[in-house]
Amino acid sequence: MEKKTILTGDRPTGKLHLGHYVGSLANRVRLQDEYRCFFILADLHTLTTKPTKEDIEKIADNAREMVLDYLACGIDPARSSIYLQSAVPEIYELNLLFENLITVPRLQRVPSLKDMAQNAGIEEMPLGLLGYPVLQAADILLPRAHLVPVGKDNESHVEVTREIAKRFNYLYGEVFPVPDVLVGDVPTLVGTDGKAKMSKSLGNVIFLSDDAKSVEKKVGGMYTDPNRISADVPGTVEGNPVFDYHAIFNTNKAEVEDLKTRYRAGKVGDVEVKQKLAKAINTFLDPFRERREKYVSQAGYVDEVIWDGTQAMRIEARLTLAEVRKAMGLASVWNRISRKAEDVKKKREKAGVTGA
Ligand code: TRP
Repeated sequence: MEKKTILTGDRPTGKLHLGHYVGSLANRVRLQDEYRCFFILADLHTLTTKPTKEDIEKIADNAREMVLDYLACGIDPARSSIYLQSAVPEIYELNLLFENLITVPRLQRVPSLKDMAQNAGIEEMPLGLLGYPVLQAADILLPRAHLVPVGKDNESHVEVTREIAKRFNYLYGEVFPVPDVLVGDVPTLVGTDGKAKMSKSLGNVIFLSDDAKSVEKKVGGMYTDPNRISADVPGTVEGNPVFDYHAIFNTNKAEVEDLKTRYRAGKVGDVEVKQKLAKAINTFLDPFRERREKYVSQAGYVDEVIWDGTQAMRIEARLTLAEVRKAMGLASVWNRISRKAEDVKKKREKAGVTGA
């Protein structure tokens, strides 16, 4: 049976962190064999909140950095295509066609957009930002994807994609699968400061590319049970980010259980709990670091990966847009007009008349 297709990706705004990994990257790496995979470097989406020339100048380096993170996680360019959104014109085209299949009030109800505007200090909603989920639908449906592994914050965008796919198929005939969303084991990873979400703008992240020393330092400064002023005070494990991380990243389950028991009994210092966590995270990240080093040392490799992936997506794009134009009847509008025009021109030539 033919493989189904995955499409997902990220805005190239910089390095990826542990939250990205558990929210979505782990799924992508895991599903690479089972699915045909496309990963988008969604630079057009960055324009919705960062449209200046200075912002745009940073895209290339940010994209390279992000691809290194992908490769470090184990995404394999031999099996998966990584491509640059702005280099695929059909995305802009499909975006415009999709804009007619969804209403403004529907988009105004997408919760993440208001947050994005607020975080970027934008007072009035730009049309492009309101259309963010529509552009994302164009990304997802361009290769006719079946599955979209994303973090929890993107669930509402995939819902818009599903609605657009259904609406398109209803109006013009079955062209698109209605894609499913896949959220990772840890939909939202708490930040090192104990705030609800690990997020670069909050400065509470551990990057996949952090070295061992930085991890030790960040873990050492992590938010933990605030009521525990000394090691002999019984502590709370539930909702404690240090233990949340232990549960996710420490593969030594016996050690984690032992730490929990002693923590609850007031028989272990925070320092020990954190040192063991830093060690576990570093063990987890070591293979990432090794792969990253390998790819960094090959000059130009990352650019080649993006180039190859973009060519692959361009082929998909042409095939899908041809079907879209045909299904919508746009192809035949142009066909009728151009056939008539050719006809007229030929007749005129025969008669020896030039010009109108
Ligand atoms: N919206 C995603 C983010 O939060 C990026 C993105 C753009 C995306 N297009 C996509 C994700 C298509 C999945 C599928 O950064």
